[in-house]
Amino acid sequence: MDWKRKSLLTIEELSAEEISFILDQADLIKNKTGQQDPIHSSLQGKRIINLFMEPSTRTRVAFEVAAKSLGADIITITGEASSLTKGETLKDTAMNVQALGADAIIIRHSSPGSPQFLSKMVDVPIINAGDGAHEHPSQALLDIFTLREKLGDLKNKKITILGDILFSRVARSNLWGLTKLGAKVTLAGPTTLVPKEFEQMGARVTHDPQNALENADAVMLLRIQHERQSASHFPSLSEYANIFGLGSDSLEWMKDNAIILHPGPLNRGVEIESVLADSSRAVILEQVSNGIAVRMAIMHLCISAHAGKRL
Ligand code: CP
Repeated sequence: MDWKRKSLLTIEELSAEEISFILDQADLIKNKTGQQDPIHSSLQGKRIINLFMEPSTRTRVAFEVAAKSLGADIITITGEASSLTKGETLKDTAMNVQALGADAIIIRHSSPGSPQFLSKMVDVPIINAGDGAHEHPSQALLDIFTLREKLGDLKNKKITILGDILFSRVARSNLWGLTKLGAKVTLAGPTTLVPKEFEQMGARVTHDPQNALENADAVMLLRIQHERQSASHFPSLSEYANIFGLGSDSLEWMKDNAIILHPGPLNRGVEIESVLADSSRAVILEQVSNGIAVRMAIMHLCISAHAGKRL
């Protein structure tokens, strides 16, 4: 296909064909490393700004490694180290970064919709690295890439996402992406964190952990997003862990070959016990590694499309 988008703002706006195209590009990058591969130097001379207004380990570093692997320069600005702390607006920050020669801006922000807002304010590509509880497109793409590697074609595969769905941008982006590719998604957790309204987005909703785990080909755990919650949504962390935490007891409900994913950061002993997080079923660190090829594909496609290069 002819990739036309200069920005990656949401998974909701992508077609199944576009999602598959990014994953295919990432597959090519992952499995065809080497100097003769033109993708690996496609962003030579480009300047990318990594604007991270919320903490991050995996996403920030993976974008940095991915940009350098494409030959680009990348500069990371964090919230505390920026002039946003002196009252500058996000719009002014982005316009100044563009004036400093940015060829693309990667943004993580607590405010849902901030990447869309910036995409109207500046001309350069904007890549959403997580906006509040709205979307985390690059995370969902690396999750889906990993699922596709492990399970093959995702049509009719049963994927359970278990945990704090309400405050999770990862859950929303994965739900959009997985359902577009034909997977059957179950969202599970306490009633306060998994409202029935998610059924309108094409998911099955259950509050029964056994029902959530039975028949699943893959189980994705999510941590409790305390930073987005102003009230307690369950009595205590230990009660949450007892009912919804994935532990060795959960294995009796799971298929023998079901795999375990987690976007990180893990809260060991809450949503997942170490015995499973460190087991051969877990593909958690493979997700992290795959994040580099997926983010290389995203930046290569969007920045090349903006520059008018044929892909
Ligand atoms: N999964 C994820 O977004 O992790 P970080 O917050 O460390 O980037």
